[in-house]
Formats: sequence, structure tokens, C-alpha cells
Amino acid sequence: MNIGSTVVRFLSIATLFTISLLLCNANLSAPCKQNERQALLKFKHDLEDPFNRLSSWAGEGDCRNWTGVVCDNLTGHVCELHLAGYESFSMYFSGKINPSLLNLTHLTYLDLSNNDFRGIQIPSFLGSLKSLRYLNLSHSMFGGLIPHQLENLTSLQVLDLGNSQYEDVYGEILSLLEVESLQWISGLSQLQHLDMSRANLSKASDWLRVTNTLPSLVENLDMSFCRLYHIPGGIANMTNLKFLNLQDNYISSTIPKWLYMLSHLQSLILSDNSFHGEISSSLGNLTSIVNLDLSSNQVAGNIPNSLGNLFTICSTDMSWNNLNGSVSEIFESFSRCSSGQIESLSLSSNNLSGHLTDKLDHFEKLRVLDLANNSISGPLPPSFGNLSCLETVSIDDNNLIGVVSQLHFTNLTRLVEFQASGNSLTLETTPHWLPPFQLSTLVLDSWHLEPSELPMWLQSQTQLETLSMFNTRISGTIMTWFWNFSSQLEYINLSENKLYGEVPHIFPSSDYQEIFLGSNQFNGSLPLVSSTVKTLDLSYSSFSGTLFHFFCNNNSEPKALESLHLDNNRLSGKIPDCFRNWKKLLAVNLDSNNLIGNIPRSLLFGLLTLPQILALTQ
Ligand SMILES: *[C@@H]1O[C@H](CO)[C@@H](O)[C@H](O)[C@H]1NC(C)=O
Ligand SMILES: *[C@@H]1O[C@H](CO)[C@@H](O)[C@H](O)[C@H]1NC(C)=O
Ligand SMILES: *[C@@H]1O[C@H](CO)[C@@H](O)[C@H](O)[C@H]1NC(C)=O
Ligand SMILES: *[C@@H]1O[C@H](CO)[C@@H](O)[C@H](O)[C@H]1NC(C)=O
Ligand SMILES: *[C@@H]1O[C@H](CO)[C@@H](O)[C@H](O)[C@H]1NC(C)=O
Ligand SMILES: *[C@@H]1O[C@H](CO)[C@@H](O)[C@H](O)[C@H]1NC(C)=O
Ligand SMILES: *[C@@H]1O[C@H](CO)[C@@H](O)[C@H](O)[C@H]1NC(C)=O
Ligand SMILES: *[C@@H]1O[C@H](CO)[C@@H](O)[C@H](O)[C@H]1NC(C)=O
Ligand SMILES: *[C@@H]1O[C@H](CO)[C@@H](O)[C@H](O)[C@H]1NC(C)=O
Ligand SMILES: *[C@@H]1O[C@H](CO)[C@@H](O)[C@H](O)[C@H]1NC(C)=O
Ligand SMILES: *[C@@H]1O[C@H](CO)[C@@H](O)[C@H](O)[C@H]1NC(C)=O
Ligand SMILES: *[C@@H]1O[C@H](CO)[C@@H](O)[C@H](O)[C@H]1NC(C)=O
Repeated sequence: MNIGSTVVRFLSIATLFTISLLLCNANLSAPCKQNERQALLKFKHDLEDPFNRLSSWAGEGDCRNWTGVVCDNLTGHVCELHLAGYESFSMYFSGKINPSLLNLTHLTYLDLSNNDFRGIQIPSFLGSLKSLRYLNLSHSMFGGLIPHQLENLTSLQVLDLGNSQYEDVYGEILSLLEVESLQWISGLSQLQHLDMSRANLSKASDWLRVTNTLPSLVENLDMSFCRLYHIPGGIANMTNLKFLNLQDNYISSTIPKWLYMLSHLQSLILSDNSFHGEISSSLGNLTSIVNLDLSSNQVAGNIPNSLGNLFTICSTDMSWNNLNGSVSEIFESFSRCSSGQIESLSLSSNNLSGHLTDKLDHFEKLRVLDLANNSISGPLPPSFGNLSCLETVSIDDNNLIGVVSQLHFTNLTRLVEFQASGNSLTLETTPHWLPPFQLSTLVLDSWHLEPSELPMWLQSQTQLETLSMFNTRISGTIMTWFWNFSSQLEYINLSENKLYGEVPHIFPSSDYQEIFLGSNQFNGSLPLVSSTVKTLDLSYSSFSGTLFHFFCNNNSEPKALESLHLDNNRLSGKIPDCFRNWKKLLAVNLDSNNLIGNIPRSLLFGLLTLPQILALTQ
């Protein structure tokens, strides 16, 4: 091994590398312009920068590699400023925008999004930054009138003024920006992407007439949460638009015809308005649509079967409307167009009828299925068990009947939420069934369980947070495993069953917040409440003994309990005076027991200031 030659080789590589770097630098660029550097320093001076993110903006250094500054490689002119805040670290710029920015005559890109400018106006001089192609002031707390001078930004392709908003003390989200008119937008002849979400546009009845004069608008038009009242017809020029969002305005009209002509549209969001009338069969002309959201309107009638032409649709939400017609026809249309494609289908809270198709296995990518609150009848078809991507299922409050067995869950390995109350379904499982899923939510209210006891397979559901089995006709005692099988349980409802025996010394390690065990046949003394429980209903059972044990035990721990229902049991003795640690109580019902004596002062003083009705008789 010749060490010398290795060193020489190493050196020569290093030298080459250095030379090429130098060459590269030399070749590359002019230094940044002196007056632009001064302008940046002035701009920085007026900006509040509590995290000192702009510490590199200093001294005599070359501004080409200052944080957030991008210069043209050849000319050295500052061409981009990337100064978005970091929301997740609450790292915001605030303060003022110095007009020295105007000296950056080659600026094409300005991003001041996600900052906190505390309601100051968008400076009207920004309208003189004539080279700008990208301007992002979204989520930055600019307020007041949007200056019409922006109309001079004739090269602008992207304008994002969305989400300048604040939350008032009641948690209501309010707009900061407003306009007298949107006429100025018609100057932006290169505009492709416009986001005005959350601006108060209630005075801009001209909004669509203006955007319609911009054939360049091919990318995105977001006017969600804008207080728009009116959507005009006869719009012709926006046919290349890809994303249109009009969520949460006050638009009350039928869906205008021109919307169905937007054949490049990939996402159409009209939710939370008052669109009414029927959906036109021209829906099938939206042949590029991927996401269609018409939820929370008053659209009525059938969903047209031209739906079957939407070959790229992935997600649709038409819940909370007045749609009727047959659910099997809707599934039929979907299986024609996008079998294997659709991932999310929400049709809840309409008036759909008919049976579920047994060809569900066409929907192999379905993750979300929400059909709750309709009039769907017939059985849950066994092919349901083939929907191996299903994560969330909601079929509550329909007229489904028949037996659901383990087969119906064969391949549902990803199922997390299953909500199916308010039907006439029977669940039949074998004693040693091991389900393929790990649920977080299971709602089986008013099902008939077979065998009619607490299912042993629940033991495998260690991630369960919500369990509701109200009125399922189950009987028997509750075995010890039941109180421990999931440490995540927050909500449990086993009311209106025929469970009996003692409830153990209570609910050990869980985060229980709401416990409903009323209308069973439990006996023995009352269980104790852990400090997380907010609602406890043990009414209409056969609990006996005194209240002393319940209220006065473990007195040092403050309780979260707000609502307590112990009425219609066989409790006896006095109400003890132990309410100092029960400060959150809003409602107590001890009606129809065998209690004697007075209501203690600590309970009265705690409760009488509150509006809830107290039933403490007998
Ligand atoms: C940089 O170098 C490339 C080739 O190495 C050359 O084509 C180009 O003109 C040079 N640019 C300048 C500004 O000198
Ligand atoms: C700026 O760039 C120069 C040369 O490219 C380099 O020497 C210097 O370290 C850089 N400064 C910073 C703060 O990155
Ligand atoms: C400038 O040069 C860098 C490094 O060579 C390159 O990544 C960048 O794209 C160039 N920028 C422009 C605007 O040409
Ligand atoms: C632009 O730069 C010139 C020269 O440095 C300076 O006199 C002028 O005040 C600057 N303009 C602004 C608006 O800062
Ligand atoms: C504007 O900035 C926000 C926040 O930084 C970002 O989420 C959004 O995508 C940007 N808008 C555009 C059109 O690039
Ligand atoms: C906008 O452009 C017009 C015409 O070119 C000009 O008169 C006006 O001063 C400009 N406004 C701003 C804010 O630059
Ligand atoms: C929106 O603007 C209108 C007209 O200026 C005004 O009457 C209304 O109060 C504003 N709404 C909100 C929530 O700011
Ligand atoms: C469509 O855009 C053109 C400009 O390209 C404009 O002249 C025309 O008036 C627009 N049509 C409508 C209905 O606004
Ligand atoms: C939808 O397409 C059909 C068939 O091409 C056509 O007859 C109909 O007019 C179109 N609807 C709209 C609203 O453009
Ligand atoms: C469906 O809704 C439409 C429009 O509201 C109505 O005319 C029709 O009678 C309804 N059909 C049924 C079967 O309820
Ligand atoms: C739902 O449709 C049925 C007929 O299928 C009709 O009798 C009922 O009135 C409708 N309900 C609503 C709320 O429209
Ligand atoms: C379940 O999935 C496996 C493979 O993922 C497949 O072989 C089987 O046919 C599926 N069973 C049902 C009932 O869909």
C-alpha cells in the first residue's frame, strides 16, 4: 500500500473540487444589488421578528443567501421572498410592511402567509410590484378593505388572500377582510388561482361576472365562507377551472347550468348553502370530477344515473339534503362508473329507500360509507364483508332487517368505526370469534344479540373508545374482564338491557367519562366513581345500601361528575353531607328511593344556583 500516492490522489481530487467550485461561483452570478440590499434591510427594520428568523439579513453580506431571499442567478436581482410563518411553532412575523419593497423591481414571488399582521390593511403600494406573479397573504390577519390598487398586478398568476380571520370570545370565526366590489380583479388578466376564502364579500354581487372575464382562471377559485348571496347564471368563460369551492355561503338557488359545463373540474364543493331543486342529469358532464360535495343543502329528487359517467370520482358527499329514490340504483350507477375507484361515499340524512345491492364487492377501495338516517330497508348483504378497505361505516337509523354474522366482517381488517343503531338487525356470532378489526367506536343500539349476552369477542377490542349497546336484550352478569379490556374507553352505554348482579368496585384504570347502565337489574351497593367520570346513570335498577359509601369515600380527590342519575333504586338512609369535592355537579336525581332526612346544606348550596331540576323527593 503506497500511502504517498493515496494522499496525492486525495489532494488532486480536493483541488479539482475546489477549482470547479470557484469556476461555478465565478460563472454563476452577479452579487445582489446594493439598493435592493438596502431595501431589504429597511423592510426588515419595520418587521417584528421575535424569533430572529432574519438574523442572516445583516451587515455588508451578500443578500443572495439571506434566509427567504431568492435572487436571479444571472442578474443578481432579488426575485423571490419566502417569508411564511410557521404555524406549528407559532413563529410569526408581524409589524409593518415598509414601502422599500418597491425597490425590488424584479420581485415575482412574495409569500407573507401564515403571519400575524394584527388587522392592518394590505398596503395599497403592493399594487405597484408589477412583476409579481405569486402573492400569498393568506392566513396572515390582514384586515379592512382589500385595496383596489391590486388591479395593477397584471402579471399575477396566483393570488391567495384566504383565511384572514379571527375567533371571537364565543369561538365564532369572523372575517377580517372585506371589499366594496371585486371589479379590480378584472385587471388580473393572467390570474390562474384565486383564493378569497373567509373574506366578507357580501357587497360583491358582481363576483362571478368579474371572474368570468378572466379566461386565465384555470386552476382554482375559492370563495368559501364569503357571505355570498347570489350565483348568477350565464357564465361561460371559466370552463377550464379545476377547483371550485363555494362552501358555506348563503346561496339560495338551483344549481346553475353553467356549473355542469365545467368539464375540467376535479373538485366541486357547494356544501352548506341553500341550493335547491333537482340535480340535473348534466351532472354526468363533469367527467373530470374527483371530489363532489353537495352536502347540507336542500337538493331534492333522485340522484341522476348519469352519475355513472363520472369515471374518476373518488369521494362524494351528498348528505343532509332531500334526495329520494333507490339506494340500489345509486350503487348501480357508481359500480358502472367508478367500480374499484370510489373511496368515500356519504349519503346520510336524505330520504333514500330500497335495498342495499349484493354487489358491494365492486367497491373495493371504499374507506368511508355513510348511509345513516335514510329509509333503506332489507338486509345487510354478505358481500359487505369483502370491502376490505372500509374504515368507517355508519348505517344508523334506517329500516335494515335480518341477521348479520361473522361472515359480514370477514375481510374488514381496517374497520375502526361501526355505527348501526336504530335498525332491526340481529348479530349472530360464535363464542370464540376473533374479529379481524380493532374498533374505536361500536354502536349497536337496538340490535338483537345472539347469543343474548355481552359478546366475548369484545375482549379483543383493546382500542375501543365508544361502546353503545343500548336496548340489545342482553342478560347475565358483567364479568370482570369487561371493566378492563380497553384502557381507552370513554363512553359506555349498556342501558335498557337485562343485566344483573353487582357492578364491581368501579371502572379501574379507564378514562371513562360517560357511563350509562340504567334500566337493568343490577343490585348490591353503588360502585365508586373515578375522578374522570362526568355522567353516571345507574337509574331504574336495584342498587341498595346507603349513599355514604358513594359520596364520602375517597374524599380527597376532586370529582368531574356533572350529571348523576341514581333514581328508581332501593337506596336508603340519609343523604350524607359530603359534597365539598363534588363541585362540578349540575344535576342530581335521587327520586324514588327509600331515602330519609334533610337535604344537606353542602348539596343545596352547590346546586340551587344552577338551573337544572332537582328531584330529591322521598
Ligand atoms: C456559465 O457557464 C456556461 C457553461 O459552462 C456558459 O454557457 C454560460 O454562458 C456561463 N454564464 C455566464 C453568465 O458566464
Ligand atoms: C453565503 O454564500 C457565500 C458564498 O456562496 C458563503 O461563503 C457564505 O457562507 C454564505 N453565507 C451563509 C450565511 O450561508
Ligand atoms: C440558480 O442556481 C441554483 C443552483 O445552481 C439552481 O438550483 C436554481 O434553480 C437557479 N435559479 C434560477 C432562478 O435560475
Ligand atoms: C429605493 O432606493 C433608493 C436608493 O437607495 C432610495 O433612495 C429610495 O428611498 C428607495 N425607495 C424606497 C421606497 O425605499
Ligand atoms: C399560501 O400559503 C399557505 C400557507 O403557507 C399555503 O398553505 C397555501 O398553499 C399557499 N397558497 C398557494 C396558492 O400557494
Ligand atoms: C396603476 O396603474 C395605473 C395605470 O398604469 C396608474 O395610473 C396607477 O398609478 C397605478 N397604481 C398603482 C398603485 O400603481
Ligand atoms: C360583512 O359586510 C357587511 C357589509 O359591509 C356587513 O354588514 C356585515 O356586518 C359584515 N359581516 C361580518 C360578519 O363582518
Ligand atoms: C369571456 O372572456 C373574454 C375575454 O377573453 C371577454 O371578452 C368576454 O366578455 C368574456 N365573456 C363573458 C360572458 O364574460
Ligand atoms: C351535457 O352533455 C350532453 C351530451 O353531450 C348535452 O346534451 C348537454 O347539453 C350537456 N349539458 C350541459 C349543461 O352542458
Ligand atoms: C322525490 O322527490 C321529488 C322532488 O322533491 C318529488 O317530486 C317526488 O315525489 C319524490 N318521490 C318520492 C318517491 O318520494
Ligand atoms: C320520504 O319518502 C317517503 C316515500 O318513499 C315519503 O312517504 C316521505 O314523506 C318522505 N319523507 C320526507 C321527509 O320527505
Ligand atoms: C379476503 O381477502 C383475501 C385476500 O386479501 C381474499 O383471498 C379473499 O377472497 C377475501 N375474502 C372475501 C370473503 O372477500
